[in-house]
Amino acid sequence: MSEPLGDLTRTHSCGALRKEDVGREVCLLGWVGRRRDHGGIVFVDLRDREGLVQVVFRPETQPEAHAKAGRLRNEFVIGLRGRVAARSPETVNSDLPTGEVEVEVETLAILNESRPVPFEIEDGVTADESVRLRYRYLDLRRPEAQGRLIQRHRLTQSVRRYFDEQGFIEIETPTLTKSTPEGARDFLVPSRLTPGSFYALPQSPQLFKQLLMVSGFERYFQIVKCFRDEDFRADRQPEFTQIDIEMSFVRPEDIYGMMEGMIGAIWRDVLGMDLKFPFGRLAYKEAIERYGVDNPDRRFGLELADLTGALGGSEFKVFGDAIRAGGIVKGLRLPGGGGLSRKDLDELPEFVKPFGARGVAWVRLQAEGWQSPIAKFIGPEEKQAIESALGGKQGDILLFVADSPRVVNDSLGRLRLHLGQKLGLIEAGRFEFVWITDFPLLAYDHNEKRDVAVHHPFTSPREEDVPLLDSDRGAVRAAAYDLVLNGTEIGGGSIRNHRRDVQQKIFAILGLSEEEAKSKFGFLLDALSYGAPPHGGIAFGLDRLAMIISGSTSIRDVIAFPKTQKGVDLMTEAPSRVDPAQLREIGIRLAGKPDGGTKEPG
Ligand code: AMO
Ligand code: AMP
Repeated sequence: MSEPLGDLTRTHSCGALRKEDVGREVCLLGWVGRRRDHGGIVFVDLRDREGLVQVVFRPETQPEAHAKAGRLRNEFVIGLRGRVAARSPETVNSDLPTGEVEVEVETLAILNESRPVPFEIEDGVTADESVRLRYRYLDLRRPEAQGRLIQRHRLTQSVRRYFDEQGFIEIETPTLTKSTPEGARDFLVPSRLTPGSFYALPQSPQLFKQLLMVSGFERYFQIVKCFRDEDFRADRQPEFTQIDIEMSFVRPEDIYGMMEGMIGAIWRDVLGMDLKFPFGRLAYKEAIERYGVDNPDRRFGLELADLTGALGGSEFKVFGDAIRAGGIVKGLRLPGGGGLSRKDLDELPEFVKPFGARGVAWVRLQAEGWQSPIAKFIGPEEKQAIESALGGKQGDILLFVADSPRVVNDSLGRLRLHLGQKLGLIEAGRFEFVWITDFPLLAYDHNEKRDVAVHHPFTSPREEDVPLLDSDRGAVRAAAYDLVLNGTEIGGGSIRNHRRDVQQKIFAILGLSEEEAKSKFGFLLDALSYGAPPHGGIAFGLDRLAMIISGSTSIRDVIAFPKTQKGVDLMTEAPSRVDPAQLREIGIRLAGKPDGGTKEPG
């Protein structure tokens, strides 16, 4: 039986009580964490958002409340009045901020009961994630889970404060919109009033923020949901949140400075930490050379070295053939061998297989020379050249991959990261930021057989590379940049094409006919011809930032109601079938169902 809230008004949160409060009359409201019956005396851990405190029911002094306490079970919602008392020295719980006190309960109201919960509401819970997602509202009752969302709230408040202070205007852009390609598939929404037509959910507010620059707002930001129908990974969700930014009259340097200010404010406000500025910069080309990837984790070394020059005439078939076919050979050195066993080394080819590599050659540098399955194929001069390129010392292990540049960089880049983690080279609590600059503007898409934009089609080439658009497109660098933190791309942006002719030329290079460009992006081209200022911007993945700051390994941990890897919300069971009448109304018939999808499949 539950009782009304009546005049129970909270005086303190559960986590707030301290020794100084001893003797105070308090009213607490919260959930029953745990109930222990110690020969008559009943102890309950009472929990609310701010923490936990022990409350005590004594039969001799408060028989009525004590009798009621016998009915309490985990997760009942209660309100109580009582008096704060000091715990005796031997019962002090130093793990708990409120561990020096307890509350002697005088009156108890049971506000609501709870069925037995599917998993314990406590930190370090081992219940399967699918069960926790199905009962996400219970999962979010856990202090750790709540803490992450509260920290995310601090992060967003810090961002809003910072941009407001810097003169940015927060402006909302539409959610029902026209498709803006960012390289992913669109989520489509059928229009009832214009049958056969669809809105797209925005992959980002890219074009709207550019139009706001044409309007003269100069500094815009928005904390905004974006939607991309992609295959999911641990750091991706189909709907996610961006901190979206656009500025007029800026160069990349201006963006870097303003964004470093934002990151500094977040780290100060959320973690109480002062970061060092400016962040490092690394041109895309150099990132690939040294790390194999464009999102390097720079918390540890193990940099790659190119050995192609040294091995051009190699008699070792694997190396020689790869190079003759236009490929490369790169290597990395594990100082001291990293404790890798023969078995570990034999497992490396399996690790690089998904990235296309056909093997990993290895060498253990020993006093008596090379210990390696390939030692006999490599001449003394080549050994010398390899060792000096990688800086080998006795005891080190060297690893090599030979293949096309893409395969070599992908596989060694991933292997580097894997070994950095496996060998414990990554210091916890460390934050390594780096700007990756000078991305190529275009990349050739072998499936589509045409050039595609590496960032997006609205990105400007670097001023000095514009002439190359006619002579050597592949060499054109974009005025585009990513911010990478500990190996995760947390933000990316560019300076935009503010001149209509340049934008039109890029559309043409991307294979868009004049008519297509007009029908898809006519409004943008028009806007660019009415005094568009030079402008540029960036967007950050807020979920990814919150994930890294909270030390989580999945962005699901920092999203209140996330979707699984398959894009399903296990709690609401979205996506779901809809009523046939709803489909008829929007003029949609499910394929393969002659009756127009009015029947469930048999
Ligand atoms: P971009 O596509 O690089 O740029 O996205 C910006 C940032 O958003 C985050 N992000 C994601 N986070 C979670 N789940 C996803 N599926 C996901 N996709 C992207 C990443 C990424 O760095 N309009 C441009 C920005 C600009 O040019 O100003 C854009 O959206 O952290
Ligand atoms: P094999 O001649 O195929 O037995 O390979 C000899 C050694 O070279 C083994 O250690 C293989 O893992 C390694 N290896 C094979 N292919 C490659 C490659 N493409 N790049 C680097 N090492 C390779």
